[in-house]
Amino acid sequence: MTTKDQAPSRSADMLEVRNLVKRYPVKSSAVSGRKSAWVEAVSDISFDISKGQTMSLVGESGCGKSTTARCVLRLVEPTSGQIVFRTTDADSDATETVEITTASPKELRNLRMHMQIVFQDPFASLNPRMTIGSIIAEPLAIYGIGDRSERADRVADLLQLVGLEPNDAHRYPRQFSGGQRQRVGIARALVLSPTLLILDEPVSALDVSVQAQVLNLLMDLQDSLGLTYLFIAHDLSVVRHVSTEVAVMYLGKLVERASAPVLFGKALHPYTHALLASVPIPDPDLAANQKRIILEGELPSPTAPPSGCRFRTRCSLAQAPGICADAEPEFRELEPGHWVACHFPSEVSATA
Ligand SMILES: Nc1ncnc2c1ncn2[C@@H]1O[C@H](COP(=O)(O)OP(=O)(O)OP(=O)(O)O)[C@@H](O)[C@H]1O
Ligand code: SF4
Ligand SMILES: [Mg+2]
Repeated sequence: MTTKDQAPSRSADMLEVRNLVKRYPVKSSAVSGRKSAWVEAVSDISFDISKGQTMSLVGESGCGKSTTARCVLRLVEPTSGQIVFRTTDADSDATETVEITTASPKELRNLRMHMQIVFQDPFASLNPRMTIGSIIAEPLAIYGIGDRSERADRVADLLQLVGLEPNDAHRYPRQFSGGQRQRVGIARALVLSPTLLILDEPVSALDVSVQAQVLNLLMDLQDSLGLTYLFIAHDLSVVRHVSTEVAVMYLGKLVERASAPVLFGKALHPYTHALLASVPIPDPDLAANQKRIILEGELPSPTAPPSGCRFRTRCSLAQAPGICADAEPEFRELEPGHWVACHFPSEVSATA
């Protein structure tokens, strides 16, 4: 559903996600004794992203990051919740608000001009039979934008913008390195001039040296084009220098959310402490004093998450039996903008 609003929006947030839930059915063999079961990949999460900011969503493999991204783009149907996207017309300053979960196919088609995704795997996400130029121009062709020569000009401009050569348009994906392919993926995501980019682990498949180059490119593009990012990563080290805000996710739930300086300076959740402990510190003296927190135990099955706090089976602060097993901790705003889901939030990690 779309609404138009001449007055400035009450909220400056470009994207608002409220109580988002996504359940997938799983086969009976996955859960003994039951005919059918559900995996709640995303379990009642809420967050906002303001225009021009980078919100990072961080957590281990399988915690529901990509499912969240796919729900925001409605590439998968959310089970419940609200996802609101706002765009502002640069000329009239009018704000258009789209409720993504109830948007019509036509509204979704318009919406996807404003929201694009860059995938993790630059090898799998580019069609090997298409030239780089055709890959980048494809969304223009789908939306019927420009003629052949205008599209070629746009492709040449974008190739330069992402640090490649206009002549690269005639080459094929196999002729490019991983980092170069990811630049192509970024160019393709930018071709419709979106305002929000969802970056689903955009550098995880790249060598460490190339990761920094692609991260720098993304930050430069954000500055020059005024982009807003939802940046997905499985470890905090990648997002440290790019985030405005960070949300930490565990087994489908958000466990902590704060501005980047607060999250990296005074995290309060035991899981965030564990993720922070695995962030490499470049200074050897400081690194020698770095606390080592090893996450013990396996990630529980998302089809049967632990009762109470989902992190309790791996948490050194957990009371068992006790409140951690009996009651799910509320996601509370302990200080303005700092949200935590833990019965015993603490700035100091329990394990050194
Ligand atoms: N189509 C699907 N059908 C059933 N289960 C699914 C489906 N897609 C995802 N899942 C399950 O939902 C959970 C979350 O998956 P998701 O891909 O969102 O995690 P992720 O955080 O992106 O992980 P990764 O870091 O490995 O990419 C996992 O348990 C996954 O197995
Ligand atoms: S609620 Fe209990 S188990 Fe969960 S993170 Fe906090 S201390 Fe650990
Ligand atoms: Mg993923």
